[in-house]
Amino acid sequence: MIPSMVIPVGGRVSRVSIDGWIADVACAHPDAGVTVAGAARRLAETLVAGSVGVAPDDVRVAALLPSGRPVAMSAAGPMPVSVSVSHERTIAGAAVSSAARVGIDIVDPLTARSALDAWFRNDERSSMPLAESPGDDVTTGWRACLWSAKEAAYKAASLDVPFAPLAVVIVPGTGDRFHFTVQGSLRDVSGSGRCFTAGRHVVTLAVVGSVATEDGTCS
Ligand SMILES: CC(C)(COP(=O)(O)OP(=O)(O)OC[C@H]1O[C@@H](n2cnc3c(N)ncnc32)[C@H](O)[C@@H]1OP(=O)(O)O)[C@@H](O)C(=O)NCCC(=O)NCCS
Repeated sequence: MIPSMVIPVGGRVSRVSIDGWIADVACAHPDAGVTVAGAARRLAETLVAGSVGVAPDDVRVAALLPSGRPVAMSAAGPMPVSVSVSHERTIAGAAVSSAARVGIDIVDPLTARSALDAWFRNDERSSMPLAESPGDDVTTGWRACLWSAKEAAYKAASLDVPFAPLAVVIVPGTGDRFHFTVQGSLRDVSGSGRCFTAGRHVVTLAVVGSVATEDGTCS
């Protein structure tokens, strides 16, 4: 859970591979007068358009209600890609894949305080490197990755259940990698992920090996 790859902040697309699943990721600061949520959706539309070879104006990323999970729409209906967005106060991010379900999450390590530890399982807490001093950078970075991994995994699982951090099990792997299981009320979903950096932020991408087909109904 130690990021090594940098996602540039400026909209340039990075193609990443996680256990053989390919996804496109981009991060950007919002233009003046654009909300960060709006910037994230526009970024997602641009990624979807690039991935399927249509104009960005022909793609609409909308929230599937009641769950809130984003879906990519064209004039012909839902598009066969998985899309995910995340936004922090000053930065927007999006991820798209035509092969896997994706989840992206952005965390500002400055806000990843120890209160978050209450949402970690015992084995997750014990995976954290020991702080040598209060506010230790290594511990804070690990905590930001762990929390971000939970949110990205929840999004990629596409279970359309409320987010329950303790029901998302993160197993750190080597380097920037992790595996996860999201425990749903009817079934569990497992997948893999990686942590990156974008400026001072942690960006985490999670994948599950098939594109979502559910309708967004909360179970
Ligand atoms: C997923 C969630 C934890 C992310 O919160 P966050 O880390 O503070 O915010 P982020 O910026 O990283 O992500 C927000 C994006 O997550 C996406 N998202 C929301 N719900 C989602 C879900 N169920 N599955 C996948 N993605 C979801 C949306 O695209 C949202 O962007 P928007 O608010 O601009 O529409 C939060 O949105 C949540 O709890 N959603 C569940 C909502 C819910 O309980 N729905 C009813 C039961 S299914």
